[in-house]
Amino acid sequence: MSCDTPPPTVESALLGNILVLTLNNPPVNALGVEIRRALQAAIESANDNPAVAAILLVGAGRHFCGGADIREFGKTPLAPTLPEVVQRIEASAKPVVAAIQGVALGGGLELALAAHYRLAVGGARLGLPEVLLGLLPGAGGTQRLPRLIGAKAALELMLSARQLSAEEALKWGLVDRLGDSADALAEGLAYTRQLLAEHAGPRRTRDAQALSEQSVQRQAIASARQRATEKSRGLLSPLLIIQAVEAALDQPFEDGLREERRLFQECLASAQRAGLVHAFFAEREVLKAPETRAAAPRAIALVGVVGGGTMGAGIAVAALDAGLQVTLIERDQPALDRGRSNVERVYDTLIDKGRLTLADKAATLARFSASTDYQALAQADLVIEAVFEDMTAKLAVFAELDRVCKAGAVLASNTSYLDINAIAQSISRPADVIGLHFFSPANIMKLLEIVVPAKVAADVVASAFDLAKKLGKVPVRAGVCDGFIGNRILAVYRQAVDAMMEDGASPYQIDEALRDFGYPMGPFQVADLAGGDIGWATRQRKAATRDPRARYVQIADRLCERGWFGQKTGRGYYRYVQGSRSASQDPEVLAIIDAERARAGITPRSFSQPEIIRRYMAAMINEGANVVHEGIALRPLDVDITFIHGYGFPRYRGGPLKYADQYGLPRVLADIREFAEADPLFWQPSPLLVELVERGADFDSLNHLD
Ligand code: 3HC
Ligand code: NAI
Repeated sequence: MSCDTPPPTVESALLGNILVLTLNNPPVNALGVEIRRALQAAIESANDNPAVAAILLVGAGRHFCGGADIREFGKTPLAPTLPEVVQRIEASAKPVVAAIQGVALGGGLELALAAHYRLAVGGARLGLPEVLLGLLPGAGGTQRLPRLIGAKAALELMLSARQLSAEEALKWGLVDRLGDSADALAEGLAYTRQLLAEHAGPRRTRDAQALSEQSVQRQAIASARQRATEKSRGLLSPLLIIQAVEAALDQPFEDGLREERRLFQECLASAQRAGLVHAFFAEREVLKAPETRAAAPRAIALVGVVGGGTMGAGIAVAALDAGLQVTLIERDQPALDRGRSNVERVYDTLIDKGRLTLADKAATLARFSASTDYQALAQADLVIEAVFEDMTAKLAVFAELDRVCKAGAVLASNTSYLDINAIAQSISRPADVIGLHFFSPANIMKLLEIVVPAKVAADVVASAFDLAKKLGKVPVRAGVCDGFIGNRILAVYRQAVDAMMEDGASPYQIDEALRDFGYPMGPFQVADLAGGDIGWATRQRKAATRDPRARYVQIADRLCERGWFGQKTGRGYYRYVQGSRSASQDPEVLAIIDAERARAGITPRSFSQPEIIRRYMAAMINEGANVVHEGIALRPLDVDITFIHGYGFPRYRGGPLKYADQYGLPRVLADIREFAEADPLFWQPSPLLVELVERGADFDSLNHLD
């Protein structure tokens, strides 16, 4: 909080005989300790004040309340707790009304549920998103909501973290009425006056009867449990949410609250909660690059995309979906036709699935044009190049862009590895050149690495962040190097994985270990999905410059030589049934691996699952530390967000460097030194990791340097 921000308060104003209590803690009125104290005191004094007939709760600013103050989690709790405050509100002898505008989320909705009557105005969003933070609603939500709307609906809300609109909230029974206008205070006052006129007294949610049909409720709990066990892949809080709702059914209200508290504390103490809360804040911190503070973005409405292949088409769709105007450039008419159909196919698939109408598609494509003539980019505000990964091809494209684009146009490359400084230097306007590294499929994957070359203007970087926001992407600022943040680290842990395979672990065992760790897919499944040919070409290109002392595992080359590039060729590390993604293990691949081990003179040994993870994570963490050390990533959290949003790293572990902090940096370093005994060239501890261990510090200490 800056020194000119007023302290959080609950403002009291007596309007006639209605006491209006306004939560005031910008920007989301989180229920930090000051608010809890003030609210508790205000309810007490209102109950003692004969001039007060009813209490109206509202939020200052845009929102009613965004819930508990997430920053307090993991710190020493300060009294009163939120459940205590909420209890006090429900116990009030004078009727309490909540009038909701903006969000009522988590503890914010629990507060409203403890009020005796609820109203929402248009645009309000109500939900219990605690599960996204590894928590359960811990201020009575698991006990009150099922009593109010039944176990099935309550579980759906809590397990999905879905946010209901005001209209839905009325339909679901979360609120009693909708406001006619957007003015929550005026609507709340009118409603409270009406309740007073009707002599409506306190009506406590704890007494609501929606749980009365026991057998229906039990069935809802059983099926939620089955689904959560199948789907939540190692997550703790969904199962504990169900347990808490079961307690609502089985136990008297007060005992249920105690059980909720116990389960909430269990979640709060978990590493998963720490990982998920880290991810929540890190997602917001990545938006705060130095250039976004220093400069305003340029206006971007017209976007050019050069290259209509896998990435170019996906980028065009992402821009179209954001409402932008898009012009696609290809090198000749057949390629242009392919590019156009690559774009159209995305919408046709949605139409086939019933998620889009023909009219929607036509309306979107009205903003799309395609040409083989660069002149069509003359008015573009931003152009993203996505041609082959070849420096000569890219330089030729940028020369054309330099020739045709208007002054002030942002010129971006989607290169995965190439030197963007060299691209920038090759034209007359290096300050306009930036890297925008999308991930495949570009219209789906959230990550956007914003690669910042030496000469780029601050407002170009700010424009890239602004574009990310428009496209609904999660931007991470990266410096220029081979592979930037993500692919550079990927190259290193892939080597660790390949070495394990040659030393005795099967690709199937490694994939299983990483799925159990929380990844949706293992590294060999990913390789088969991405296609082995791209990596093969890269390896051939880099063969001449490879350190001859470095270990080089040739198994992938043996598969590629057979034309086994993964899913698209029906064979890779796995075999694929024609036209399907269903994979089976392949004994021939295992035989090839065996032959390679023999050729390399390696006697295979067995690997336990923990050892696989230890080696995989040590390689990833060590290179992550190098990337931070060299300033390629601004902070450790930028590495974390890159892996969560670009590489499927389990969010509940908070990212690789958050995981490292939890595992303990001295242990990571000890692992690396142990592995270095067999391969000292590969396992060289990062200077940053060594330094942090020597200082007794962790990666998180580097996340908060302003
Ligand atoms: N506690 C503390 N800080 C919070 C917060 C919270 N509950 N919610 C948001 N903030 C902070 C953000 O970190 C951000 O800070 P910054 O400006 O320093 O980066 C600032 O408020 C604004 O947040 P957003 O940028 O996300 O603003 P938006 O307007 O885009 O979104 C929101 C607002 C929808 C409320 C969104 O912030 C959100 O989803 N917040 C989390 C809501 C939530 O999960 N609540 C449950 C908390 S757990 C709980 O209540 C436990 C209880 O059951 C006991
Ligand atoms: P692709 O081969 O699918 O598409 C490249 C397209 O560029 C082709 O349609 C080709 O006709 C066109 N093209 C080539 N030269 C051109 C020119 N001079 N003018 C106009 N169009 C031209 O390749 P892909 O996979 O889309 O990759 C494109 C870029 O994106 C590469 O730099 C790649 O490294 C990068 N990238 C690729 C990812 C992936 O997963 N495929 C992920 C992230 C980045």
